[in-house]
Amino acid sequence: MNAVSSASADSLRAALAAVLDGLPPNRAAQAVERLIANYRGTTPTDAPVLRDRSDVAAYAAYRMPATFEAVRGALDALRAAAPDWEPRTHTDVGGGTGAASWAVAEAWEEAPPRTTVLDWAEPALALGRELAAGVFDAEWRRERIGAALSLPEADLVTVSYVLKELTEADRTALVAEAARAAQAVVIVEPGTPDGYERIIAARTRLIDAGFTVAAPCPHSGACPIVPGTDWCHFSARVSRSSLHRKVKGGSLPYEDEKFAYVAAVRFPVTPAPSRVIRRPQIRKGQVLLELCGPEGLGRDTVTKRHGPLYKQARDAEWGDSWPPEEELGDR
Ligand SMILES: C[S@@+](CC[C@H](N)C(=O)[O-])C[C@H]1O[C@@H](n2cnc3c(N)ncnc32)[C@H](O)[C@@H]1O
Repeated sequence: MNAVSSASADSLRAALAAVLDGLPPNRAAQAVERLIANYRGTTPTDAPVLRDRSDVAAYAAYRMPATFEAVRGALDALRAAAPDWEPRTHTDVGGGTGAASWAVAEAWEEAPPRTTVLDWAEPALALGRELAAGVFDAEWRRERIGAALSLPEADLVTVSYVLKELTEADRTALVAEAARAAQAVVIVEPGTPDGYERIIAARTRLIDAGFTVAAPCPHSGACPIVPGTDWCHFSARVSRSSLHRKVKGGSLPYEDEKFAYVAAVRFPVTPAPSRVIRRPQIRKGQVLLELCGPEGLGRDTVTKRHGPLYKQARDAEWGDSWPPEEELGDR
């Protein structure tokens, strides 16, 4: 992309479409199928899975819109908890083709931070650099995550869909190093039971290192979910591309990307009073909300009797803060 545009989902899509146009027909679909098989296999690996430009272009076209939306969701929640905070520097660890960096550039679009993307896969960095050209400034640098990782000091560190690919020891080293180097750390993982477990382990480490949880939790105490019974996760709607339709079939124009996350900070924040942790159920004249609050897990039934709050409950989405800000103190 040459023209300067903002780091929106649409400009990301346009940049990805331009890259895919350069690949032979069906090459991307084949590469995606191979990568999906690979990602289902045993990870972590000891060498980059994204080996060449076709692999990377396929991964990017297939996954970037979804990881972008997931990270946007996490960043929105962080921004709601710390509305006046703006990162000036950002490091995207295991940043690959830069989905989380696009999300950061859009979240703080008025003054995007100076970003450094670190990854061990040179083809991913090269494509990321190409996609972001003219959209946001970043340094793309080859770096291996491991015990020797040394991160530059940064206001914000993002780690998006990376922990799953690391050994336990490398995961521990990465979270410790992120906690040392950053004022705010945002970690996003797939919204699966094991993704949630990795998030909870990282959350505990960040709290032990002196961080406060900004989101999604309303507090920095223990997670009230009994291990093995459930998992905290959220959902981001992503429009499906023609590549998705080719690989997965189906006709829905969108997919819901499930993700788990933690955003933790070293500065004062106002976490959500409670958070909607399931898709709200709308019944005749009432909305059922499943919530995580300071007292743990709970339910709220909002009926027409609650007046304006009822309308807000009907508009509430999975992942939102509850009650909406203007209603605080009115209940
Ligand atoms: C699933 S991709 C996620 C990429 C990007 N963060 C996103 O959200 O789309 C995982 C990334 O982690 C990188 N990675 C995995 N293990 C790594 C390691 N030990 N050192 C550096 N990068 C690593 C991979 O090369 C890949 O780019």
